[in-house]
Amino acid sequence: MRRRVLLTVVAGTLMTGLPAFADEPIKIGLIAPFSGPFADYGKQMEDGIKAYQRLHGTTAGGRQVQIIVKDTTGPVPDVAKRLAQELVVRDKVDFLAGFGLTPEALAVAPIAQQAKKPMVIFNAASSSITTKSDYVTRVSMTLPQISTPIASWALKNGIKQVATVVADYAPGIDAENAFKQTFTAGGGQVVEAVRVPLRNPEFAPFIQRVKDAKPQAVFVFLPAGEQGVAFMKGFRERGLAQAGIKVIATGDLTDDHVLPAMGDATLGVITSFHYSAAHDSPQNKTFLKAFAEANPGAGRPNFMAVAAYDGIGAIYNVINKLGGKIDGEKAMAAFKGMKIDSPRGPITIDPATRDVVQTVYIRKVEKVGNELYNVEFDKFADVKDPGK
Ligand code: PHB
Repeated sequence: MRRRVLLTVVAGTLMTGLPAFADEPIKIGLIAPFSGPFADYGKQMEDGIKAYQRLHGTTAGGRQVQIIVKDTTGPVPDVAKRLAQELVVRDKVDFLAGFGLTPEALAVAPIAQQAKKPMVIFNAASSSITTKSDYVTRVSMTLPQISTPIASWALKNGIKQVATVVADYAPGIDAENAFKQTFTAGGGQVVEAVRVPLRNPEFAPFIQRVKDAKPQAVFVFLPAGEQGVAFMKGFRERGLAQAGIKVIATGDLTDDHVLPAMGDATLGVITSFHYSAAHDSPQNKTFLKAFAEANPGAGRPNFMAVAAYDGIGAIYNVINKLGGKIDGEKAMAAFKGMKIDSPRGPITIDPATRDVVQTVYIRKVEKVGNELYNVEFDKFADVKDPGK
C-alpha cells in the first residue's frame, strides 16, 4: 500500500515535473452574506478578489487557486458554521476567508481551531475575534482601532459633549466603549448612549433621543450600507443639523459604495477609517483601475473590497512562501509579521496578535468634482487594536 502511494507520487512527479499535490487546486472557502440585508458585503469581497486576480492571475505556488463561494444569508451564525464545516470536511479547503459580520466569524473560529485551517478575516471587526483561535488573522480593522482616533480628534477640536449611537452587537459595544474611554479620559462627557438593533432598525425614536440630549455631536457606528443611509435621512428629517449637532462616526457610516447616493446632507460629516476611495497613492489608483476593469458596473469599491484584495494577496504570499504545500501551522507562521502594500497605505499583521496594524485617517465628506468622497485630512500612524 505504502509503496503504491509512493509510486503514484513518483509517477505524478515524473509526468508534470511537480509533486502530485500540484495537480490539485488550492481551495479557499469564501464565507459571507451574498443575499439578504448584507448581500453587498459578499459582493464587495468577491469583486475585490477579482480585482486582485486580474492583476496577479489565478495561480500561486505553482497551483491553481480556486475560490468556493458560500452565502450565509446573514447575519446567521449557525449557517456560517455549517458552511465552514462543509468546506473543511467535504471540499477540503486549505483556507477559510471572508466573514462580513462578527457573529458569523465568532461561530466559525472554533472550527478553524479544530481543523487547523487558517481563517482570514476580510471585515468582521469586533476586537475579540482574533483571540478565539490561533488560526485567525485579520486584514480589515477593529472597532476600537478606528473609534479611538475620532475621540481624540473631537477633543482636540472643541467637542466636549457627545451622544453615542451604535448597533447593539459586539462591534457596536466595542465602538461605544472605546470611544467613551478615550473621550472621557480626555475630559469629554457622553451625555446619551443609544444602542439600536442590528436587524431592521427603526431610527426615528433613537434619533429623537439624541436630539433631546442636546449634545455638540453624535458619534455613530452602524454596519456599512443601508443603515447609514437611513440614519442620515432621519438625522436630516428631525432637524438635528439645524439644532447644531455635528455627526462624527467611523467610516462605515459613509461607506464609499453608498456615499455617492447619500446626498448633500452628508457634506461635512467627519469620520475616522482605514480606507477611502479618495486615498491618493499609486497603489490605490492601481486597485481602483483593476476593480473597475474586473467588475464592470459594480460602482465604487469600499473597505471590504480592499480588505479582500489585501487578504487574497496575503494568502497568495503564504502559498508562494510554502511552495504550494499548505500546512495550517506553517501558514499561520507565514502570516505573522507580513507587510502588505495596501491601497489604503502600508499595513502589517502583528506577529503577536495576528491582527492588523495600520494608519487610521480622519476624513471629511466633500465634493470632488461632482461626487461625494471621504477626503482624508489628518492621520494617526501605526494604530494597533487598543488593549492588545
Ligand atoms: C461586523 O459585524 O464586525 C461589522 C459589520 C459591518 C461593519 C463593521 C463591522 O461596517
